[in-house]
Amino acid sequence: MSITGIKGMNDILPGDIETWQHLEEQARKVFGAFGYREIRVPVAEKTELFCRSIGETTDIVEKEMYTFTDKGGTSMTLRPEGTAPVMRAFIQHKLHALDPISKLYYIGPMFRHERPQKGRYRQFHQIGAEVIGIDDPKIDAQVLAMLSHYFMTTKIPDVSLQINSLGCPGCRPTYREALIDFLEQRLSCLCADCQRRYTSNPLRVLDCKVPGCKEVTIDAPAMLDNLCIGCEAHFTQVKNHLDALEVDYTVNPRMVRGLDYYTRTTFEMVTGSLGAQNAVAAGGRYDGLIRDLGGPELPGIGFAIGLERLALMLGEQSVLPPRPELFIATLGEAATNAGFSMLTRLQRRGIPVEMEYTGKSLKAQLRRADKIKAKRVLIIGEDELQRGMSQLRYMDESRQEEVELDSLESLLSKEIDGA
Ligand code: HAM
Repeated sequence: MSITGIKGMNDILPGDIETWQHLEEQARKVFGAFGYREIRVPVAEKTELFCRSIGETTDIVEKEMYTFTDKGGTSMTLRPEGTAPVMRAFIQHKLHALDPISKLYYIGPMFRHERPQKGRYRQFHQIGAEVIGIDDPKIDAQVLAMLSHYFMTTKIPDVSLQINSLGCPGCRPTYREALIDFLEQRLSCLCADCQRRYTSNPLRVLDCKVPGCKEVTIDAPAMLDNLCIGCEAHFTQVKNHLDALEVDYTVNPRMVRGLDYYTRTTFEMVTGSLGAQNAVAAGGRYDGLIRDLGGPELPGIGFAIGLERLALMLGEQSVLPPRPELFIATLGEAATNAGFSMLTRLQRRGIPVEMEYTGKSLKAQLRRADKIKAKRVLIIGEDELQRGMSQLRYMDESRQEEVELDSLESLLSKEIDGA
């Protein structure tokens, strides 16, 4: 029996890859304009990094990590997200000593052992961005302006931005107690998971998808009504700046996030078109994370976009595969050899050219040119070769011209560069 791939880990094939490349290129362009530079970190880290940053009582750390012990006895984990590894690298390489402000982005695979379904996979890809060193609400608004702009330029339909504030270590503990009190009185109505975690991670109960839990928590106290003066002012200013930058959003006081490092501003870009997996991007502020990981006291904010979900949403509108500029069709051995040299010469000049390698009939060669949607076909026959000539057929215009083989290279370059 042949070997198949691992469940929940997908191949991205030609035909789909063009959409991915488009999404990645657009991110590089947009993020570059906003002053972000790329960082690449390994796919595996010491397990402790994720336990300390994401939080011991989160679903990710409790249930979803790909953790194993390597041959040297180190417990390693395939990264379930990118923020913690980027912060680890930031601290390790003392990037703050080079520049007090870092704007970084990353693109790559993440791993979570979740139950695979449409839009949810075990290996998935994120485009993430992080700003370290600024706690001014202007940067929260600018991060969201950049995220919204990215969605606009990539023409992702039907997405909207939801924001919330999760407070800070000053105001959250009091809120947490109030929430635990509220839940305690309704314990018997909660699902088994929520009954277990209502004291360890009560905010997650607000995010539970079980209908009974949803119903019970409708009147639960909201963090937004319990913010301290500093957090309240910060959130108000974020909203004011978003209004000034004309970024559309709604406030969702029930939004909680599946990672424990968040403080103050949190947000999700949601869609109605992907069923249960409705978050296409998410993030927030994490002002204590760098310190908690042993680094300097520096604030941070960022987000990650789920590439699979974006590609699914682009679906039908996805990017067309590239078309060869030329297909070389030949008749007879001498013409085939001349065509083969021409092929390589043109490819070395950077022009996408194809030919049939196995000596098929002219008809079969033209069929292939058609199949791969070549823009032009060059036909070289024995007689023409002797005269140094060839026929150049423009496929989209149904016209054909006789051209000198020697002048083909410059003719094509002119046409392509001038196009
Ligand atoms: P997250 O909400 O866990 O945040 O993931 C961000 C996005 O990754 C989600 O909104 C979703 O689009 C995508 N995603 C997550 N899990 C899966 C999955 N199993 N299959 C497909 N797509 C998935 C983070 O990861 C934070 N590190 C974001 C962040 C950056 N916060 C601050 N900076």
